[in-house]
Amino acid sequence: MAYPDLDSASAKLHQRGRASIPDGISRGLALIRPHPIYVESGQGAWVTDVDGRRYLDANNNFTSIILGHANPAVTEAVTKQLSKGTAFAMGTEAEIELAELLCERVPSIERVRFCNSGTEAVMGAIKAARAFTGRPMIAKIEGAYHGTYDHAETSLGATPSNWGTEDAPTPVLYADGTPASVADEVAIIPFNNSSAARSIVDRNGERLAAVLIDTMPSRVGLPLIDTEFLRTVFASAHAVGALVIMDEVISFRLGIAGNQGRLEVEPDLTALAKIIGGGFPVGAVGGRADVMEVHAGQVDVRPRLPAGGTFSANPVTMVAGLACMQQLTEASFQRLDEVGQRIRSGLTDAFSRIGVDWQVTGHGSLFRIHPHGRPVRSYREAHLSDDEALAMDFLQKRLLERGVYLPGYGLGCMNLSTSDSDVTHLVDAVADAIVAVV
Ligand SMILES: Cc1ncc(COP(=O)(O)O)c(C=O)c1O
Repeated sequence: MAYPDLDSASAKLHQRGRASIPDGISRGLALIRPHPIYVESGQGAWVTDVDGRRYLDANNNFTSIILGHANPAVTEAVTKQLSKGTAFAMGTEAEIELAELLCERVPSIERVRFCNSGTEAVMGAIKAARAFTGRPMIAKIEGAYHGTYDHAETSLGATPSNWGTEDAPTPVLYADGTPASVADEVAIIPFNNSSAARSIVDRNGERLAAVLIDTMPSRVGLPLIDTEFLRTVFASAHAVGALVIMDEVISFRLGIAGNQGRLEVEPDLTALAKIIGGGFPVGAVGGRADVMEVHAGQVDVRPRLPAGGTFSANPVTMVAGLACMQQLTEASFQRLDEVGQRIRSGLTDAFSRIGVDWQVTGHGSLFRIHPHGRPVRSYREAHLSDDEALAMDFLQKRLLERGVYLPGYGLGCMNLSTSDSDVTHLVDAVADAIVAVV
């Protein structure tokens, strides 16, 4: 099928949307030019657009859908809650139930506070680390995405023209208008570079509240983390009295206790979101009880870190998250690993069969396609040239024509409804699309 043309319902919606929404769509990554695709519905592993075209969903709302679209148990739990009311200025039992499930599953999480997004969770974790340590600064990984809080997005878009030296990367402000002072409060660590990590943390020691790390950062190329680097980050942060914040907003889908369970580490704080909301907006900060105490006040004494949030822990999200998480067992993660592994090895075979120097990285249900053969261990190695970025844009369109949705930068993510024939469909579509691209 051809990409939806100018007469399509998607093109018409885009035209209409542009009159009320800049670019006609509220999320940057959902924008595809000349017009994005608007979805009508999703079921299991597939979505249907407003023109009735069907696509295998190889993204799952940027990794937030893990069971499949319109999961019956989640739908039932939410429907029941809708008739009881959706948001209250008082607590609900559902909030405690989801918090208990997270505390039971993840050894490092002794207490949890809910919010509404991964951006808020990362911001909340940073503020908790600052409140606990009394220090202003964080260190984060070059190129890693953690949502849109000023400090957390530093060096997200670093380029060869501004990223500085490998051993001491320059903090690069992301959005226009970000206060220049933010760069003084963020140190940048290159992924998988232990000696640089050690010296950057040491250099900023007394000012450092936390090191923020995603152990499988998608924008860094979805590389595997070196054990020595991981150990260095934890040891050097703790040696200077800083906390380790693990961003598991995506990587929580890698195991029953997230990627921290797989890697056998216990961060001081963890930022969660995506799958724990069962398809609804969610975020959470979890961690050590003594650190999380910054949220607790006493009569007449306000907490060290006051935190609000009109819709934080709303019962619709909480029951959806619970209904989703309760269905996830060890066997679910084994199945996701198997699906991901079949995709990664199928793509690797296809690349060599076609004779292109492409590669795929990732683990579990996550994969990322790279239009080059350079090793991918850090942001600088994964960074695409203009031509490579263009090739990925073409790939996205050619895949849509072949019934697969994958975002423009090639991050793939499958849900538990993915069948073996869906895997074959995906691998065949990518192989066919690459032939068209190259
Ligand atoms: C690793 C990571 N952290 C944080 C976020 C921000 O989450 P949200 O989009 O829910 O604000 C994202 C979003 O994709 C993410 O990938």
